[in-house]
Amino acid sequence: MIELAGVSKAFETKKGKVEAVKDVSLQVRKGEIHGVIGYSGAGKSTLIRCVNLLEKPTAGKVKLKGKDFTELSKSELLAERKKIGMIFQGFNLLKTATVGDNIAIPLRLIGVKKDEIAKRVDKYLDIVGLADKKSSFPGQLSGGQKQRVAIARALAQEPDILLSDEATSALDPETTESILDLLLKINKEFGITILLITHEMQVIQKICDHVYVMEAGRIVEDGLVIDLFSNPQHKTTRSFLNTVSQRKLSLDFVRELKKTGSVWQLAFRGSSAGDPVLAEAATRFRVRPNILTANIMELKNGVIGNMDVHIAGEPEEVQHALQFLEEQGVIIREWTDQNGES
Ligand SMILES: Nc1ncnc2c1ncn2[C@@H]1O[C@H](COP(=O)(O)OP(=O)(O)OP(=O)(O)O)[C@@H](O)[C@H]1O
Ligand SMILES: [Mg+2]
Repeated sequence: MIELAGVSKAFETKKGKVEAVKDVSLQVRKGEIHGVIGYSGAGKSTLIRCVNLLEKPTAGKVKLKGKDFTELSKSELLAERKKIGMIFQGFNLLKTATVGDNIAIPLRLIGVKKDEIAKRVDKYLDIVGLADKKSSFPGQLSGGQKQRVAIARALAQEPDILLSDEATSALDPETTESILDLLLKINKEFGITILLITHEMQVIQKICDHVYVMEAGRIVEDGLVIDLFSNPQHKTTRSFLNTVSQRKLSLDFVRELKKTGSVWQLAFRGSSAGDPVLAEAATRFRVRPNILTANIMELKNGVIGNMDVHIAGEPEEVQHALQFLEEQGVIIREWTDQNGES
């Protein structure tokens, strides 16, 4: 559905060339939700603007629904863009128009008939749960409600692709949850393919199938969300994971513990708790595991259990126990803090 191959974007500025996006490739199949996560300045907005050619890539191909967007003429591009919805952090609503008109006006501009417009306004306001706000003005709405209007406006063009640039970043955690639920609902009901960018790992955790970690214009790691969450490789991925995994042992505390053994981070895929295998390891080998922290993370497509464990025992026995755990499907890493220190 969305296919980027080797996309790069450089800006010429007074201070020289800024390479905002470097050689990015990704593929989103119909009905999937993919997320790009990265810190400020990583190039996320530039990347998503390359998808609908609001920015023209300096290199690479952008294919949507099999069509090469980089080859389209201006008028062809305008026509194709109607089928791509976009939502933003700042909502971009017209302040002087009612909620209903905010949805109707863009439809009028693309030549949708009057009675069809009326139908769509009601339909999509209903879907986002704001049927009663049709005559209100944006200034009378909360942030979450404004984003719902923006989503209804995007949906009213009946797109098959929805691009989202930090749509929940300005919202409080509860409102964020409700907007994410809404995105999941429209993804399910209409089969809309979604590519979103965010700096919030909880967004990835809750609604994405696949995640790309972006840094300095490049994708430094990507994969199924469940794979990345249970076995992150790149330092940046790990530091994003720390924001949602709530296992906050201090480096000093761990260093103290290490005087009497070793400290490990274990990840268990699926809902099976880690206790039974740890207990089994303790009976099979001469080791004494002690669970320091434990939590369960629910993802869109599965559940991951995480534990920080202190293991005391002869090094050789500990190695055997770890090997046994690995054979049971446990993913093991030496404990590190968010900066990679151990
Ligand atoms: N039009 C432009 N001209 C020059 N440089 C630009 C332009 N747009 C973006 N950049 C630069 O490209 C880099 C990436 O910017 P971009 O907005 O894509 O980052 P981002 O990941 O979306 O950041 P944020 O999370 O803060 O929104 C930055 O260094 C930025 O200054
Ligand atoms: Mg941005």
